[in-house]
Amino acid sequence: MDVLSGATMNFELTEEELAVRDAARDFAQNVLKAGVIDRDREQRFPAAEIRQLGELGFLGMMVDPKYGGGGMDTVSYVLAMEEISKVDASVSVVMSVNNSLVCWGLETFGSEEQKLKYLVPLAKGEKIGAFCLSEPEAGSDATSQRTTAIDMGDHYLLNGTKNWITNGGTASTYLVMAQTDAAKKHKGINCLIVEKDMPGFVVGAKEDKLGIRGSDTHTLMFTDVKVPKANRVGEDGFGFKFAMKTLAGGRIGIASQALGIASGAYELALAYSKERKAFGKPIHEHQAIAFKLADMATEIEAARLLCLKAAWLKDTHGNYDIAGSMAKLFSSEVAMRTTVEAVQIHGGYGYVKEYHVERLMRDAKITQIYEGTSEVQRIVIGRSVIG
Ligand code: CAA
Repeated sequence: MDVLSGATMNFELTEEELAVRDAARDFAQNVLKAGVIDRDREQRFPAAEIRQLGELGFLGMMVDPKYGGGGMDTVSYVLAMEEISKVDASVSVVMSVNNSLVCWGLETFGSEEQKLKYLVPLAKGEKIGAFCLSEPEAGSDATSQRTTAIDMGDHYLLNGTKNWITNGGTASTYLVMAQTDAAKKHKGINCLIVEKDMPGFVVGAKEDKLGIRGSDTHTLMFTDVKVPKANRVGEDGFGFKFAMKTLAGGRIGIASQALGIASGAYELALAYSKERKAFGKPIHEHQAIAFKLADMATEIEAARLLCLKAAWLKDTHGNYDIAGSMAKLFSSEVAMRTTVEAVQIHGGYGYVKEYHVERLMRDAKITQIYEGTSEVQRIVIGRSVIG
């Protein structure tokens, strides 16, 4: 078990970490909040906001400055993800995928040539990346890849379909998992860097989703796409391990997204409970509401500690898979429970768009599904605790 329950953890945040949190909070409250309801209604990708996020250094936060990144730690990333997600989870999913899956994957496992060509513009926020593992028949069962990458000597010939790809339409750089040697099962899978303008690559229609409606989710089709051998990440057959290792860190990002959705809904419910009067007093003076707020605050604090612990393990011990899965499992369930209660506290107002909590409730659901469902996290945790 890699949770290191006996290790000493410093609960004090550094000045740098607090400054990152405050910068993210300012951006979320002053830039993102004004248009979030319209973007959700219109399913509009937050292009201008993402550009600004990149300029602030939030799209390659943890990347080494020599590759154009911010050189920050994972704790700072969690703090920033929480603040952005309190207001707009459609923005924070772009941030999470670009930081945790694409930039981290390329920086950790890419060649120097790949880092200079692909990582630098992604870390600077000049380009957006996508991570392509899921398929029509390979979601949780990720080893069952049907997309093929046939070895043609100096290039791979890529054929297949990927589903539910975040940043599918807006990305320029795609990390695509594909099967090169089916006889080797998951050990025959490769990760290829695919550019949007490679002939044979087609972006399908945008999904019309329940939540995170501003984010850009597509099916992608590859027909005889020639991908140079130089675009394979790592050794031949490393693709599945690449995906698993990358997703382990990605789960810390989604856990903090869920945490932010929960704390955003809680803050709105708390403020509303002080304004709204019923039976002659503010509703938070009724124990029925006060107990809900107490449970929400307690669960959010526990989720925050799990997220920060996973981040701290990633920064200090490099062994964080189980902690990341625990953080994601718990935070996503807290996000669901908290947002449902936040709507309940708002009563009828909670059911209309103007009060934000119905959107947060819709956004919360995806955190139990993507980057590994709650059931997948239980598989990962269960195997570890059972041994
Ligand atoms: N690190 C390194 N290697 C790992 C690993 C990890 N965290 N987890 C598994 N592996 C390795 C195993 O060691 C094994 O390798 P060996 O055979 O060499 O020992 C190999 O991977 C296969 O592992 P399993 O036998 O455990 O595989 P499994 O078929 O039983 O599946 C699973 C395990 C945990 C369910 C995995 O398939 C999984 O995580 N599925 C969910 C996939 C997922 O999260 N998809 C999300 C899509 S991406 C997304 O949502 C992004 C977005 O756009 C927002």
